[in-house]
Amino acid sequence: MAQEKNDVMEKIVSLCKRRGFVYPSSEIYGGFAAVYDFGPYGVELAKNIRDAWWQAMVRDHDNIVGLDSAIFMHPKVWEASGHVGGFSDPLAECRECHARARVDHLLEEAGVFADEKMTEEEINALLAENKDKIACPKCGKKNFTEAKNFNLLVKSNLGNFTGDWTKEPTYLRGETCQGIYTNFKNVLDSSRVKVPFGIAQIGKAFRNEITARQYIFRTREFEQMEMQYFVEPSTAAEAYEEWRAKRFQYYIDLGLKKENLRWHQHENLVFYAKAAWDIEYNFPFGFKELEGVHNRSDYDLTQHSKFSGVDLSYRDPQTNEKYMPWIVETSVGVGRTFLAVLTDAYTEEAVGEGDTRIVMKFPKKLAPVQIAVFPLMKNKQELVEKARGIFDELKKTFRCEFDDNGNVGKRYRRQDEIGTPYCVTVDFESLEDSAVTIRNRDTMQQERIVVSELQKYFAENLR
Ligand code: GAP
Repeated sequence: MAQEKNDVMEKIVSLCKRRGFVYPSSEIYGGFAAVYDFGPYGVELAKNIRDAWWQAMVRDHDNIVGLDSAIFMHPKVWEASGHVGGFSDPLAECRECHARARVDHLLEEAGVFADEKMTEEEINALLAENKDKIACPKCGKKNFTEAKNFNLLVKSNLGNFTGDWTKEPTYLRGETCQGIYTNFKNVLDSSRVKVPFGIAQIGKAFRNEITARQYIFRTREFEQMEMQYFVEPSTAAEAYEEWRAKRFQYYIDLGLKKENLRWHQHENLVFYAKAAWDIEYNFPFGFKELEGVHNRSDYDLTQHSKFSGVDLSYRDPQTNEKYMPWIVETSVGVGRTFLAVLTDAYTEEAVGEGDTRIVMKFPKKLAPVQIAVFPLMKNKQELVEKARGIFDELKKTFRCEFDDNGNVGKRYRRQDEIGTPYCVTVDFESLEDSAVTIRNRDTMQQERIVVSELQKYFAENLR
């Protein structure tokens, strides 16, 4: 079973490279660990994932507004947030081959409960107790140093011209939500929102992740989709449960299989959090965190009030009561959603005569290309012209691709691998009856539709 799952991961990685979804960063230089690039189809899929999230979180709620804060922020933000002092993972080094690894992950893989929130002492006690079980993932020897907490913030010299920027570094943001907290007052003062309300943003985040494994699941540069919902303190628990329910349903509405989703409750909470649950997805390497839903209490606004000297409390315009809002957070990575969507969609099917096809059964709203239009033959001018005409019309409404490479069978295989729900073929009969063949990705069935009905057909079928 585990081998089968490894194979699926390898097959997904290979398909992503072969079909232009994901490439390793700087590959011509040998790659750059834990950083990836999206190729032509990947960038479309990632955009559709962002758009679906934005629709569900911002456009579908009249009390949630969007924001796009800068990646760089005042360094004090990261002191106030606790990242400079405490945003770390336990790092140990293999004494034999010098590979570095996250000890909480090694312990977990050996069946010992551990997480990154444990103190150095707690982690080292577990490491000592279980040292015979903990093998180096690189050389297999069981000889690790003690763990040390390693801070994950990525430092930079932005705006520092002293030559020794390491003393007063600026940081690439470790999470997008801090830009939401620092703009809480701006949004309140410049829009019509009143508590309870949310601020949502999508943007890049950076972390010096210790181990570079599991493909795009854990990367050093990644994109988060975060929403912070500000509430009156006594209503936080209820709002939290509402958001938990909404976010789980969101993935089902997105088209992920329910059996691949489950909840995981964090027992070991960071000191300020009142509740933390993860939505886990059944990735090829097992159930792992897809999204975190957190009740962050009033910690963030209180900290930023203290460190900035600006009072971020809220006065209720009706009751005149003043309080520090509590925050319910929903946070998920674009890359992690992308990998969940790929995993859910990846299908191998027997198609007769010992042949198999690989087909990415993406939800239609997420598919990078929704309709591929083909002329039966690329060297017949009248077929090409008619197919081009259909493509030019359909592309105004749908995501379309014009494809005249190879024979139709090969085009179907290629479109299956990039997950295109429909292919439209213009053949010689089309010149007579102005009808085309539509081939369905999932059933492989074909039907004839007159060209004048195509818009209506796809409007109904691509919803
Ligand atoms: N603001 C809260 C926060 O950042 P987190 O649990 O550290 O919480 C939230 O991250 C989500 O961001 C995760 O559930 C995951 O989807 C995504 N994420 C975090 N670290 C990531 C990484 N190194 N690579 C890819 N995605 C990551």
